[in-house]
Amino acid sequence: MTTELVLAPSVLSADFARLGEEVRDVIAAGADWIHFDVMDNHYVPNLTVGPLVCKAIRPHIRAPIDVHLMVRPVDRLVADFAAAGADIISFHPEASEHVDRTLALIRDQGCKAGLVFNPATPLNWLDHVMDKLDLVLLMSVNPGFGGQQFIASTLPKIAATRARLDEHAARTGQRIRLEVDGGVKIDNIAEVARAGADSFVAGSAIFGAARADDPHRYDSVIAELRGALAGAA
Ligand code: DX5
Ligand code: ZN
Repeated sequence: MTTELVLAPSVLSADFARLGEEVRDVIAAGADWIHFDVMDNHYVPNLTVGPLVCKAIRPHIRAPIDVHLMVRPVDRLVADFAAAGADIISFHPEASEHVDRTLALIRDQGCKAGLVFNPATPLNWLDHVMDKLDLVLLMSVNPGFGGQQFIASTLPKIAATRARLDEHAARTGQRIRLEVDGGVKIDNIAEVARAGADSFVAGSAIFGAARADDPHRYDSVIAELRGALAGAA
């Protein structure tokens, strides 16, 4: 079975003064999801946006909003993001006291649930929670900032995760998406896909390609990323 490949621009590199227009433009250019990075200056050393901003962009697009929580504690924010229109909510297992409970909470709120792995976080956090997962998000940079370099050791980790997810799907019929986040660009997205990812976050590669005076400012970069993915198949 083939899985549809998903491109998820990260708003972290968008122009926050024109966020509604930015998310409309990337979706109009062919992106699939909006990746929404939430940082708390506690779990990660940076501070971004919360449910209010998620709620503000919600009416601008019909595409799923893919919320990446880099916060500790996690649980209190889950209901707020669900109410703000999030479709997918992912969190870092080290940031939750009770990972199984947090996953159940996300699904109880009607959202899809994801677990995020930092470059040095071992995959054994997957061991007992696969049945509650819709998405695994592998970080290919240390979380906290856009525009960082892709960490090469993520490639074998993507392949190892793909093997686990395929084995799980064959045994149970449950398919879990495999998303990669950090330093994904036109020149490495094919390699990330070949390693086994099916969903791709790109922040600086997409929003950094904009020309402010061009109404179709994201068409060519999205087309190039899709072209590279087609070449990887
Ligand atoms: C990093 C964030 C990423 C980041 C991706 O903590 O989770 O989503 O914004 O940005 P690029 O694509 O620029 O690495
Ligand atoms: Zn992210």
